[in-house]
Amino acid sequence: MTDLTPSVAKFKDWRFGLFVHWGLYSLPARHEWVKNRERLTDEDYQPYFDHFEPDLYDPRAWARAAREAGMRYAVLTTKHHEGFCLWDSEVSDYTVAKTSWGKDLVGPFVEACRAEGLGVGFYHSLIDWHHPEFPIDLVHPQRDDEEAIAKAAGRDIGVYADYLHAQTRELLTNYGPIDIMWFDFSYPGRQYDDGRDGHGKGRDDWRSEELMAMVRELQPGILINDRLDIPGDFVTPEQYQPSGPMIRDGQPVVWEACQTLNGSWGYDRDNLDWKSPDLLVRMLIDSVSKDGNLLLNVGPTGRGEFDPRALDTLSEIGRWTRLHSRSVHGAGPSELEAPQDCRFTQRGDRLYLHVLSWPMQHLHLPGMAGKVRYAQFLHDASEVRRTVTDPEQTAQNTTMGGLAPGTLTLELPTQRPDVLVPVIELYLT
Ligand code: GLC
Repeated sequence: MTDLTPSVAKFKDWRFGLFVHWGLYSLPARHEWVKNRERLTDEDYQPYFDHFEPDLYDPRAWARAAREAGMRYAVLTTKHHEGFCLWDSEVSDYTVAKTSWGKDLVGPFVEACRAEGLGVGFYHSLIDWHHPEFPIDLVHPQRDDEEAIAKAAGRDIGVYADYLHAQTRELLTNYGPIDIMWFDFSYPGRQYDDGRDGHGKGRDDWRSEELMAMVRELQPGILINDRLDIPGDFVTPEQYQPSGPMIRDGQPVVWEACQTLNGSWGYDRDNLDWKSPDLLVRMLIDSVSKDGNLLLNVGPTGRGEFDPRALDTLSEIGRWTRLHSRSVHGAGPSELEAPQDCRFTQRGDRLYLHVLSWPMQHLHLPGMAGKVRYAQFLHDASEVRRTVTDPEQTAQNTTMGGLAPGTLTLELPTQRPDVLVPVIELYLT
């Protein structure tokens, strides 16, 4: 790792973050794209504004749950595509301040994160399905409504861009130092399936260069993601684990995979497609082994809580990260090649062998003889004994044959340790 700015180095050390998708869509509880998917008009959507009352909102509890899960930063949707603002924006009436709840949600979130020692990020939607000057394009809820399209003919994206810039300025001025600005998303040149022009939106619409310059001026240490249709500080594979360290133009890039608990970002009551804690821990390990971060999402309920399914998952993950922090936080990929069904991460002279599938008694590490001075399980610091078998002997040895010279063998217990993913800590010579 060379030439990392302090912000990038900090971000990479965090490795694991919480994404929070919260807005009016938490009330219909049918995915954050419900307005688009069901082609709802502003009028159809109004009941969610009228009934938004997050009486159980306790951001300290969110931040604590995140920290205990092993997360080191949290990114909140300040405004999602629906256009509803979670803070009292001076340039909009479509904000939490104008609901019966009547007060800012962003400030308490920021304070809670800081109090729990988490980094803070703001997600902010470039798209806006409520703003009167945002064109009816192919992802707009009214995309098939001829009458609405005709009425919207004179909409001026430039006016909307001013609004986008003004809101970004508010967010980055009013809440102290912010670590991450997470814009979402550009879709330049997109067309409908039938070939009609979809009026895709990109850098010229958002005035991305200018917006990015303003963000950096207001918050010099901030990291900006890559969804402004111009390169940012890190790239954001979505619901997708890359096959290895990510490379762009021949250079390694900083990356963060964002992942859901159940396929939806917003609270989605009847969606049962939940990932197991075991899978999620493997995804975290997989990310770090490929030099990336994992940003794992929770969609709080309309009352402002993480539902029990999300909390149970986070605490299961936390049971693992409490014992295995060393193999993920501040760790990165190793140049050594991991054996089958395993992932390596490394930090200085410590190599972490994550055993995804439990082998029978022996785990062979070709080429590692003489390179390990001690080995232990990370969860309980119990020694893992190691042997190097002389290749001359193995050639004739019928019980343990075929080992390449220089292979180090770890002797594992028959019983797999009772943790989601066992990790062996190897002290390199
Ligand atoms: C997408 C979706 C969105 C979600 C985001 C997270 O682009 O539009 O609902 O917020 O990805 O990465």
